[in-house]
Amino acid sequence: MSKNILVVGSINMDYVIHTARLPKLGETITGSNFAMNYGGKGANQAVAVAKQGCRTKMLGAVGTDLAGGLAVQNLESFGVDCSPVFHDEAPTGAAVITVCGGDNHIILDVGANACVTPARIAERRDLFEWADAVVLQYEIPVESVLAAAKLARECGCTVVLNPAPVKEVDPALYGNVDLIVPNEFEAALLTGIEVTDRASAARALRKLLDMGCKNALITMGKQGCAYIWQGEVGYEGIIPIKVVDTTAAGDSFIGGLCSKLCEGAAFPDAVHYATAVSTLTVSRPGASVSIPTCEEVAAFLS
Ligand code: RIB
Repeated sequence: MSKNILVVGSINMDYVIHTARLPKLGETITGSNFAMNYGGKGANQAVAVAKQGCRTKMLGAVGTDLAGGLAVQNLESFGVDCSPVFHDEAPTGAAVITVCGGDNHIILDVGANACVTPARIAERRDLFEWADAVVLQYEIPVESVLAAAKLARECGCTVVLNPAPVKEVDPALYGNVDLIVPNEFEAALLTGIEVTDRASAARALRKLLDMGCKNALITMGKQGCAYIWQGEVGYEGIIPIKVVDTTAAGDSFIGGLCSKLCEGAAFPDAVHYATAVSTLTVSRPGASVSIPTCEEVAAFLS
């Protein structure tokens, strides 16, 4: 990979509240620290690669509402080129997030993200010709993810897929994927193999390759991650830190990983760097705002 990264995916506004426990159905409880944060898996991944110094373009859609304008401004403030973002008569994607004990629950209304159609992707072939790597997730229509992956493959890009939130997709998608990056829950849903430790992760990784993906990496929260890269299985542990908010942990990991692969780093080194990026991200509240810059990561690793 080299350094032009195109993210095709979601842009959301996150509405976040912290709570000591989750309410039962019909119950009202008191939370704290309410915040509106810039989020969306696609947008977070775009910010993560841009903060690591990559040239980054975002192909997505927001509403013509206040949230959409602000979300685009936020992306641009980190150097993400948003000129390919569509502005549609639909509400900007909204994620309602409860953070409980550092972990999160998310309910998403995709809103304008649904306007990223296969036809619109086909219209922007120029972006895929510009890109060295294309990063995809499932908060836009899955037909559009398939169209983007096929176009990326035709244009010679490296295709990185974060299959989140897990959806049923055309299995042809996987044959166009160079690296798939699910978390342990997503990997279990995709493969039917419960991922609880390194041995079960290795089985699930092999299944992901059998499905057609060239390489695979499973993030496993407190257990670090497991991967198969060019046929070699590897593992990486966590870097201990006080966890404040896990929102965007996976997104920042993917950004860190792609940026280092772009620089030509060896895969285990890229994974180590990505682990540092996501470690710093979970030590701070929020989504894109919590993702560290390359300078912050360098200071942390030294
Ligand atoms: O991965 C975290 C993101 O998922 C949040 O920012 C939220 O928008 C949801 O899409």
